[in-house]
Amino acid sequence: MITTSNDARIYRGSVLKKPLRKAVLPVAGLGTRFLPATKAMPKEMLPVVDRPLVQYAIDEAREAGIDQFCLITGRGKDSLIDYFDVAFELETTLRERNKLALLETLEPSSIEAGSLAAVRQQEPLGLGHAIWCARSFIGDDPFAILLPDDIIKGGRGCLSQLVDVYNETGGNVVAVTEVPRDYTNRYGILDVGQDDGRTVEVKGLVEKPDPSVAPSNLSIIGRYILRPEIMTHLSKLERGAGGEVQLTDAMAKLIGDMPFHGLRYEGTRYDCGDKAGFLEAQIAFAIDRPDLGPAVKAFLRKYI
Ligand code: UTP
Repeated sequence: MITTSNDARIYRGSVLKKPLRKAVLPVAGLGTRFLPATKAMPKEMLPVVDRPLVQYAIDEAREAGIDQFCLITGRGKDSLIDYFDVAFELETTLRERNKLALLETLEPSSIEAGSLAAVRQQEPLGLGHAIWCARSFIGDDPFAILLPDDIIKGGRGCLSQLVDVYNETGGNVVAVTEVPRDYTNRYGILDVGQDDGRTVEVKGLVEKPDPSVAPSNLSIIGRYILRPEIMTHLSKLERGAGGEVQLTDAMAKLIGDMPFHGLRYEGTRYDCGDKAGFLEAQIAFAIDRPDLGPAVKAFLRKYI
């Protein structure tokens, strides 16, 4: 692991913009906001229309050039691993019955052998702890984090947009969005330095600050590109807000040692970890589908 004292020297060199190929998808949370549905099934397998949340994150990562994936799983999350496996009986039956269009729908859930790793987080001690569990997978490489319960709809994938900034600036890049001032105590919030309207310099980060002390209303969403040095800070396993090991606290310790930017991404984010956000995502994605849009619009008129 590269030490912090070497950072300045290393960042001036070519390691600064080492290409991004790895992504970590933490899926070990309890998903309590969706109980009882999540008692026996992972939140990340809940479908938006007909694809599980985790599929949206994998698609977005692939579009951004990622070809090595690590799922941070926990008890009761095995269906996530099965989802990315070959479904021999199903695929053979569909082929025999000449259901080729259905067979095609399975293609995005296929990951090349050896490109999907799974690591257990034995206890859900927080997002920072989940990411720390991926330390062997990460080694000395930069990596993306995608939280599958955030899905972002728009033209170009959010992670691809972050990669553009990463290729300009190196260091760490996070996707950010404005939230109502009253809600800052739900999110990781930025202290903003230089701001050109699209990219902001991150001067500080605070997890779930009270609105009265929040440095801004610019919040991190579930897309990150981080340098591997984050693991040095996470390995201390310090507890933060809510008694959890917070990723935001470890990220805050990288500020000053290396470039750190936030990107106001283009696209609409749906917080599918929240029931209202999840329902809104269903409508937004269904309306855009040629096979469903007209029917969905018609029944919505009935209810409104
Ligand atoms: P959330 O903050 O939404 O927590 O996690 P949660 O447990 O999934 O859901 P609620 O709040 O109880 O309803 C954001 C992401 O981080 C993962 C989750 O699986 C989710 O993808 N996570 C969270 C972990 O992998 N481990 C943790 O200890 C906490």
